[in-house]
Amino acid sequence: MLTTTQRDIIKATVPILETGGEALTTHFYRIMLDGYPEVRPLFNQANQANGAQPRALANAVLMYARNIDHLENLGPLASQIVNKHVALQILPEHYPIVGACLLRAIREVLGAETATDHVIDAWAAAYQQLADLLVNAEHDVYQSIAAAPGGWRGARQFKVTRKVAESSEITSFYLQPVDGKPVIAHKAGQYIGIRLNPESGEVRRNYSLSAPANGLGYRISVKRQQGGVASGYLHDRIMVDDTVELFPPSGEFVLIDSARPLVLISGGVGITPTLAMAETALRTGNRDVVFIHYARNASVQGFQTVIDEWRERYPQFAAHVVHSDVTPGDVSAGRLTGRPSLAHLRQWLPASRDIEVYFLGPQPFMAFMKRALHEVGVPDRQSHYEFFGPAQALA
Ligand SMILES: Cc1cc2nc3c(=O)[nH]c(=O)nc-3n(C[C@H](O)[C@H](O)[C@H](O)COP(=O)(O)OP(=O)(O)OC[C@H]3O[C@@H](n4cnc5c(N)ncnc54)[C@H](O)[C@@H]3O)c2cc1C
Ligand code: HEM
Repeated sequence: MLTTTQRDIIKATVPILETGGEALTTHFYRIMLDGYPEVRPLFNQANQANGAQPRALANAVLMYARNIDHLENLGPLASQIVNKHVALQILPEHYPIVGACLLRAIREVLGAETATDHVIDAWAAAYQQLADLLVNAEHDVYQSIAAAPGGWRGARQFKVTRKVAESSEITSFYLQPVDGKPVIAHKAGQYIGIRLNPESGEVRRNYSLSAPANGLGYRISVKRQQGGVASGYLHDRIMVDDTVELFPPSGEFVLIDSARPLVLISGGVGITPTLAMAETALRTGNRDVVFIHYARNASVQGFQTVIDEWRERYPQFAAHVVHSDVTPGDVSAGRLTGRPSLAHLRQWLPASRDIEVYFLGPQPFMAFMKRALHEVGVPDRQSHYEFFGPAQALA
């Protein structure tokens, strides 16, 4: 429990965090990733190099300091962190490492004059309070996943039973547990954690589950990233009958139980969770589903066949696939072309904006979509999104 004086010190640090939070967390990661090689594989180095993870942590620390008197105001931030931690198997023993490195970073970035003993003591107590909150919440999630039918704790071995090229860039992997036992039913929209061991060393990544739950296994659909460690390894080295390690499904970007028309909007490989959502909704009811997908062209776009099948089979399903960079001779010829626009939303969204919208894609696409959905009258609380990486601002 923080004393009143400690809380006042934390609140007094807010202006420093507002301007220097990112410098602080960037320094923190440098200290931790250099000094503690055992936690390095947990972190995606690309998110360090492009600053996304230091930014996400700086934002979380700032929100925490601002709300130190009212932690309940942190809202979805804490559960978003918990979900990400659970999917990457962050454990209680990791927290003291983060705590020690954070305090050292505060001392080194702020200097002895600002980071007095009182300031350091206040931040040590504040960190411990936040760490306890996260560790307890993560413990509860680990327990409940392990106790659920088909659930497990830690890494479980899965065999690749099928590997299907969905496009020139996207490949699906069908995964079944080596132990032959059932798997926990994920909610449509959730993602798993995967642990891979390329020659360059262990990496962990998240992949959305691109098909509805079937109790037997999972499907992930992975885009090859130029120079990407995990996606390159999966595409080039992981074959049928090979095994990979999975951490259980996690995530809160999931279909909310509702009778409202469902609108799913994706850009590129952001299509993966929306496939699971669409199929789940189509199979389980007659809720209207509008599926809007943007891709560069037909060669990189996946899943056209299944979209066509759903169109045939489900009268309540409408799909609009748009290509942005059609090259001469591309089989996209004859399809819709263009970029995401307000005109598309006005034309394709149900007339009543009392709908649930889920969207996912590259950051500029997401920033546009958030603004555009608001502008065409979708209530903000009914438009949901997630990031294929650390949370970012969509301003
Ligand atoms: C919740 C969630 C769900 C996801 N679902 C999916 C999904 O369904 N399908 C999917 O394909 N992806 C998904 N992702 C993204 C996925 O987790 C990986 O981030 C993605 O596959 C890239 O990983 P990688 O190891 O191949 O690339 P990385 O090695 O992480 O590299 C990514 C890019 O950064 C560059 N890079 C790497 N290191 C550096 C460096 N040090 N300096 C400069 N540049 C660098 C690489 O060249 C590459 O272009 C999801 C992510 C999250 C968080
Ligand atoms: C109070 C302590 C902590 C806070 C406030 C915190 C905060 C965060 C935040 C904000 C994110 C980004 C979530 C998202 O938007 O996706 C994140 C992700 C992550 N955290 Fe933590 N975290 C803490 C402790 C830890 C610990 C102890 C570890 C393990 C050493 C850890 C490892 C990770 C990893 C691996 C990710 C994903 C990074 C990536 O994608 O590159 N965190 N954390």
